[in-house]
Amino acid sequence: MVNSKIGGIGFYVPEKRVTNHDLAGVMDTSDEWIQERTGIVERRYAQKHKESTATMGVKAAEIAIERAGITAKDVDFIIFATLSPDYYFPGSGVLLQRAMGMNGIGALDIRNQCSGFIYGLSIADQFVKTGMYKNVLLVGSEFHSCGLDFTTRGRNVTAIFGDGAGAAIIQPTEEEGKGILSTHLHADGEHAEKLAYINPGCHGGVHLGTEKFGYPEQEFGGMWLTEKMIADEDLYPHMEGKHVFKFAVVKFPEVIMEALQKNGYQPEDIDMLVPHQANLRISQFVQRGLGLPDEKVYNNIQRYGNTTAASIPIALCEALEEGKIKEGDLVCLAAFGSGFTWGSALIRW
Ligand code: UT7
Repeated sequence: MVNSKIGGIGFYVPEKRVTNHDLAGVMDTSDEWIQERTGIVERRYAQKHKESTATMGVKAAEIAIERAGITAKDVDFIIFATLSPDYYFPGSGVLLQRAMGMNGIGALDIRNQCSGFIYGLSIADQFVKTGMYKNVLLVGSEFHSCGLDFTTRGRNVTAIFGDGAGAAIIQPTEEEGKGILSTHLHADGEHAEKLAYINPGCHGGVHLGTEKFGYPEQEFGGMWLTEKMIADEDLYPHMEGKHVFKFAVVKFPEVIMEALQKNGYQPEDIDMLVPHQANLRISQFVQRGLGLPDEKVYNNIQRYGNTTAASIPIALCEALEEGKIKEGDLVCLAAFGSGFTWGSALIRW
């Protein structure tokens, strides 16, 4: 069986920079608080009425396709990872497909939040390894800023997220020992509501058997959005940050070690770790635990915030563009986030 590899990668971030000071102008927060807790200095916001999750995905995909030495016509499958899709349905995959003139091929939308890129990479890897597809386009794109609470109530969530997109072409490689060596996926639904965007939704007011979220008065319909949800402004992402942090700093190292052990490596064998950009403090914690020097961990959350499914491809692409990953390097990707879901991928570049 052949291995698969990342044959081309690209990213797009919107032009508009939003600093911590800008946020402090609309809610009770400060540059000092955000930098100290998260490392974030600024993030990008997409332009409403001009950009969307799919349009940003297209921009990143165009670069990835060109760098893979193919054209859009050669792509034979699309995987689109996002938690901020253009529509509730259909998924953004078909919108990207239409925009890029790739009609007819399959488009799979996946909902694995911060682990979306790793989950998507694992799916693409299986399709390529089995010979079913030769050029899988994997996109991670997020337009968080259109769904955040810009009042002080939402400051713990709003401070960390930013918009952007990353994309990769997954292709077969004939080179022995090169490409994606293994991927490792995990989830624990016990924590589903600890980091979640619940309303509007089809939960029918049921939360693990309770009626916590309220149910519309009328018998039929109306479960998407109730007047109570609007009155309570219960329409934004919810995050128990400390709970997420606590699990992230355990699961990140665990899943990185799983990938290393599977392939007979030690942490010191890693040439570059590209962690999902959740919070700089989480990345630093993981780095210390694994004993990795600064030059072996790539972080750019300072400039882009947490872009969820887009964060790994954006960071990986920048690391490559800056010459920080070379042919033959052992690259480890790892993510943790809402679900909870987490995963890793080990790649011989
Ligand atoms: O992508 C993966 C998913 N997400 C993550 O990985 C996030 C993991 N968690 C975190 O990064 C951190 O929990 C946060 C940075 C989000 C929050 O930091 P924290 O130290 O856990 O703060 P907290 O939520 O426990 O809140 C502590 C205090 C609260 O005030 P009181 O109740 O003590 O008066 C918050 O209201 O800090 C307040 N606070 C803020 N203050 C200023 C929360 N957010 C802000 C803010 N600016 N942006």
